[in-house]
Amino acid sequence: MRKPLIAGNWKMNTTVDEAVALVYKMIESLDKIRNVEKVICPPFISLAALAERIKDSPIKLGAQNMYFEGKGAYTGEISPLMLDDLCQFVIIGHSERRQYFNETDEIINNKVKAALKYGIKPILCVGEKLEGNEAGKTAKIVSQQLGSALADVDSLGGTVIAYEPVWAIGTGRSATGEQANETIGLIRLKITSLYDEEVAQNVRLLYGGSVTDENIAEFIKQTEIDGALVGGASLKAEQFISIVKQTAEISGS
Ligand code: PGA
Repeated sequence: MRKPLIAGNWKMNTTVDEAVALVYKMIESLDKIRNVEKVICPPFISLAALAERIKDSPIKLGAQNMYFEGKGAYTGEISPLMLDDLCQFVIIGHSERRQYFNETDEIINNKVKAALKYGIKPILCVGEKLEGNEAGKTAKIVSQQLGSALADVDSLGGTVIAYEPVWAIGTGRSATGEQANETIGLIRLKITSLYDEEVAQNVRLLYGGSVTDENIAEFIKQTEIDGALVGGASLKAEQFISIVKQTAEISGS
């Protein structure tokens, strides 16, 4: 069985003090919910402070990005080697990185390979823009993004894939549960064709894009969706706790 996973992507929000305060507000309630994997992805500079705070908690940390080299003359970058001790996950290929920081499929592929080499699980993001969606090209775009991101990746090693339609991110206009389930089902088929049925049945596939405590149930009830990557709503302790709680209730076990 795939354990549901809820990841909070705090993006470029919170100072270190604010990040610690936010985790304090969530930790007690989140710790009580056992059957959902909870991942918080704060800004890099808060990772060390949060790692210390959650060391006795089942909450896990993720980075929002990383460079693909282990070390060297890459001013301003953060390497997997630096993240290794602090977090178990790293978001790779988020649409904001693709859009504002010109991340290409090749860069994303290098990052996935580097994360896996250092034992950090990628949360690989894929998703179509509005034009692609309106032109009926969602399946083609997502399949192409997956093929590129996973080129020469022999083993997924705990990789999580998040389907995040770009038009749904930060817009308040989420996909419907059925829409997300359909594309996520196609992602599972693509993983079957790239690897095999067993790998596809084990990989966790998330939905992301304007997830809130009001619509999470619609996604978690779907057969193919194993959790969510939550942006804005993960910055509000009550909302994030409610999202995790509802996920646990619906998933049962
Ligand atoms: P959102 O962001 O929940 O604020 O739409 C999701 C994401 O970018 O991962």
